[in-house]
Amino acid sequence: MNKEKLLDPNGINKVASSKQNISPGSPGNNAVSCRAEKLILSMANHSKNNVEDQNNFSSSSPYPGGKNQAGVYQTIINQIPYCKTFIEGCAGSGAMMRRILDPSIKKLAIEIDPSQFFRLSGEFANESSYFIEHGNVLEYLQDPKLKMYLFNNSENVLFMDPPYPLDSISSKNKIYKFSWTQSQHEKFISVAKKIKCKVLICSYHNKLYDAELKDWRKVEYQVYDQAHNLKTEVLWMNYPEPVKLACTRYLGSNHRDRENLKRKKQRWLKKLDAMPRYQRLGILDVIAKQYNFIWNGE
Ligand SMILES: C[S@@+](CC[C@H](N)C(=O)[O-])C[C@H]1O[C@@H](n2cnc3c(N)ncnc32)[C@H](O)[C@@H]1O
Repeated sequence: MNKEKLLDPNGINKVASSKQNISPGSPGNNAVSCRAEKLILSMANHSKNNVEDQNNFSSSSPYPGGKNQAGVYQTIINQIPYCKTFIEGCAGSGAMMRRILDPSIKKLAIEIDPSQFFRLSGEFANESSYFIEHGNVLEYLQDPKLKMYLFNNSENVLFMDPPYPLDSISSKNKIYKFSWTQSQHEKFISVAKKIKCKVLICSYHNKLYDAELKDWRKVEYQVYDQAHNLKTEVLWMNYPEPVKLACTRYLGSNHRDRENLKRKKQRWLKKLDAMPRYQRLGILDVIAKQYNFIWNGE
């Protein structure tokens, strides 16, 4: 994959100018539509047989409520279905995509903050399945080509960790460089409810999300806010509990669960290995059918 194509040096200027009139309500933003084709082409040219990813990423997050906190990223990642493309729409440190190591899944980060964009671009520059975009995700979500190629594709997953709505945080101070107005949140939710890919949205409870996403499946978890107080966050999802995950390394609700699972997996594998071939094939087949797995057999 030619990463330089994505790291368009002019991108910053284009986005900087589009940032002055960030109006998430306006579809077909020129800067985005110019880059949409380029992005689609780069992603389409990606081959999962490209250079093996290094999978050696650090996980620092400079953001209050960042999802790299222990217990938080595990909860979220255990809800992310296996997919063709995983899109992290308000990427920040890319807390989720950095943990999805399967090179057959394309990972796309969209981040509006130039410093965060450059940090991600540098970090993932040699990773062929990672695509980093600098721009306003609200414009990407409404670009007709990207809608067709990415957001209306049920094989793709969009994860959104937007700035908190102001009515959900006690301090009215801006805690992000790029926070959203109420109408930006409203536009986002209305678009998110219409697209056809699988969507995960996380935030604190707030009037708008609680009301508009009341029919979505939800999972709650605890996060430390910037003042180190424990707060409840919600993960809303527009799809049923997944059977196949994008990443299985964090299954289990704590370290002990995960260690138990590791041992159980080894025991089951040993048992399967020890079986006569006809038994192993029969059992694998029935498991695949029961849980809707696609299994190519031998
Ligand atoms: C809550 S933080 C995400 C933190 C991230 N999940 C992590 O754990 O590092 C929100 C991020 O969205 C970015 N952002 C805000 N508005 C955006 C927009 N319209 N388009 C893309 N990114 C945006 C912010 O710069 C910030 O990095």
